[in-house]
Amino acid sequence: MIIDGKQIASNLRASLKAQVTDFKKQHNITPSLTVVLVGNDPASDVYVRNKVKQTLEVGMISNEIRLSQQTSESELLTLLDELNTDDSVHGILVQLPLPKAIDEQRVISAINPDKDVDGFHAQNSGRLLNGEPGALVPCTPQGCVILAQSHLGDDLSGKHVVIIGRSNIVGKPVSLLFLQAHCTVTITHSRTANLKDVVKQADIVVAAVGIPKMVKGDWLKPGCVVIDVGINRITNEEGKTALVGDVDFIEAEKVASAITPVPGGVGPMTIACLLKNTLQAAQNQLAH
Ligand code: GUN
Repeated sequence: MIIDGKQIASNLRASLKAQVTDFKKQHNITPSLTVVLVGNDPASDVYVRNKVKQTLEVGMISNEIRLSQQTSESELLTLLDELNTDDSVHGILVQLPLPKAIDEQRVISAINPDKDVDGFHAQNSGRLLNGEPGALVPCTPQGCVILAQSHLGDDLSGKHVVIIGRSNIVGKPVSLLFLQAHCTVTITHSRTANLKDVVKQADIVVAAVGIPKMVKGDWLKPGCVVIDVGINRITNEEGKTALVGDVDFIEAEKVASAITPVPGGVGPMTIACLLKNTLQAAQNQLAH
């Protein structure tokens, strides 16, 4: 079975749209998201346009700030200072990657943690680690858990999740979310010994390494659920470019009970969860 991330993301957006309507009625406030894009990376441009479009579709306010490739770190930090204290801005997202001259970590740390809808600020990592309610949790990891639940049901307790990859954006936070959901969690990475044998034990495999088609069909336990976070652009046999995941889909589909496709799996969930975080941020700010 193929897990339809596009449909599940669309259902989530419909639910958020209703919640936004309620929020507006109750508080006379429209949740707003400001996206900052520095430079003209073509992939970032597509992502940002999608974010703006979907923010508006769920009834929230979208602000887009585009800065030139030559923007200095201090200019960006000054802008963030203004956004941090502007009560009409509930969520702030600085699109990554940033130009090389700008220190990404310093920029992430400069975002007001209550407005950090990416959930990348150390304060939000800490809130996630402690399992605090209302924490802003990174979007792609949230999407992975929702997709696993769409097939297995809400209760994932006792499932063995094997995560391949240990990034701050996916591997580490997704491990904490599955742990919170009462799973047994194994984090693997490039130095893991006998990786294939470890993956074979998984009820749920989360692949987030960035290596095209690395996970083969014979790595998987029959009936497992595969969540493929990879988005790799490759040139296929006919010389055409194609998007593929970190999992060999053709092989894995025959062994797994369910698998997310690339594209159309995890990708659409990331933006839907960004909108969820924006509403969460607006709710949190009300309580302050
Ligand atoms: N660039 C690619 N994915 C993301 C994301 O989830 N957040 C931000 N800020 N930048 C990205």
